[in-house]
Amino acid sequence: MIDMDRIPNHIGIVMDGNGRWAAKRALPRLAGHNAGMKALKEIVKRASVLGVKHLTVYAFSTENWKRSKDEISGIFKLLVLYIDKELEELNRNNVRVNILGEYKELPAKALLRLEKSRVTTASNEGMQFNIALNYGGRAELVKAARAIAADLLEGSLGIDEISEQHVADRLYTSGIPDPELIIRTSGEKRLSNFLLWQSAYSEFVFSEVFWPDFSPDELEKSIEEYQGRARRFGGR
Ligand code: IPE
Ligand code: IPE
Ligand code: MG
Repeated sequence: MIDMDRIPNHIGIVMDGNGRWAAKRALPRLAGHNAGMKALKEIVKRASVLGVKHLTVYAFSTENWKRSKDEISGIFKLLVLYIDKELEELNRNNVRVNILGEYKELPAKALLRLEKSRVTTASNEGMQFNIALNYGGRAELVKAARAIAADLLEGSLGIDEISEQHVADRLYTSGIPDPELIIRTSGEKRLSNFLLWQSAYSEFVFSEVFWPDFSPDELEKSIEEYQGRARRFGGR
């Protein structure tokens, strides 16, 4: 049983396995991405009901541009459809949408929907739903390094003053607590450039299930596994 008093405040998810889910069914990869969007809808709902404060999902990495043009444009078309269909319900459920990553570089239609979902839900006080899009942990750290360098040049910051907090404040996740739990689906056991800085002390749960099959019950199983872990943060 899941302990409702120890729900992680912040859960990160690497939603992996859409392509293999489709291949197993002899379907095109985009059918997998479409099924993945449906899974996401249910996970967002359950996470919000469970009282998760921040849900961060890895939707498109800085490395995913290596994929075929057709797959990339298909993914962003599905994103547009997802927002058009779900924004009203997200808003009704008091969910606040936030984007992590260089999302301004995304195709115009997707960008428009993302801005709309941010503005529409800006004053909501329920779960914050962070969508990592055109996100890369290394790119995020480079961006922070540049911002700190600019402050140094300007003279508003001295070298010896640079602290962990200075770095954290210049990440996309500024103000968001580090994820206690990171889940990756599809049996792959790697971070693939997701939340590199923020995951320093995260617990990792790996599920064998492909993302489209990751049900709310699977989410609860992952939380249960997390609740069985002893977190030490270097202490004893
Ligand atoms: C995750 O599923 C979705 C994105 C990276 C956009 P994949 O598309 O990586 O699916 P697999 O790993 O090929 O099965
Ligand atoms: C990570 O999955 C990125 C997202 C889920 C958006 P990938 O499928 O791109 O990662 P690798 O290539 O297997 O490491
Ligand atoms: Mg993958």
